[in-house]
Amino acid sequence: MENVTVLDHPLLKHKISMLRDKNTGTMFFRILVEEIAMLMGYEALRDLPTQLVNVETPITEADVPIIAGKKLAVVPILRAGLGMVHGILALVPTAKIGHIGLYRDEVTHEPHEYFCKLPENIDERLVILPDPMLATGGSAIAAVDYLKQQGCKHIKFMCIIAAPEGLKALHDAHPDIEIYVGNVDECLNENAYIVPGLGDAGDRIFGTK
Ligand code: PRP
Ligand code: URA
Repeated sequence: MENVTVLDHPLLKHKISMLRDKNTGTMFFRILVEEIAMLMGYEALRDLPTQLVNVETPITEADVPIIAGKKLAVVPILRAGLGMVHGILALVPTAKIGHIGLYRDEVTHEPHEYFCKLPENIDERLVILPDPMLATGGSAIAAVDYLKQQGCKHIKFMCIIAAPEGLKALHDAHPDIEIYVGNVDECLNENAYIVPGLGDAGDRIFGTK
């Protein structure tokens, strides 16, 4: 699928496997989500433009690359996307932060919006949209719909685990956005949870169940 990158680094796969374990507690779960987000961000940002600046090293002068003044925003899908923010900020500490609050109805699995706040000039920014889970795809599609309504043109969605159904739905709805996935799992179960998955990402990050 064009614009879809499934990451294959063994360190990433190892950390995702540890997340899946139901015996992994809240503290370690949070640490892993943050580390995974940093590893995914490293890949997702490999096409950031650079520009040359002149520096004087202890040896000589040289024209060397730095990140060009690209404006970035990290916009997590609440709640679980919050767990990925600091991993990405470790790479791009000056990025602005937005929030898109969505929850899935337990019966219909449809996303419901409850809070949205974006940095100014969002239409001029590269937007990184993290959410650990892409299940039916409803939440990610709604979040990208919203960002596009606000004028965003360059969006990179990052998820740790995707169901094939959700990945196809998001790509079909928004073929222009870049999608980065840590692992594509088997399927969804009757409650629209990812199998094997890791359970409810928000509850595991925040310790709410
Ligand atoms: C989870 C997850 C995604 C969504 C994925 O959030 O973090 O946002 O479900 O499911 P979908 O692809 O079928 O839309 P949830 O709605 O449980 O909210 P929470 O993060 O507040 O727990
Ligand atoms: N949301 C989650 O947190 N986990 C799933 O498996 C599906 C949706």
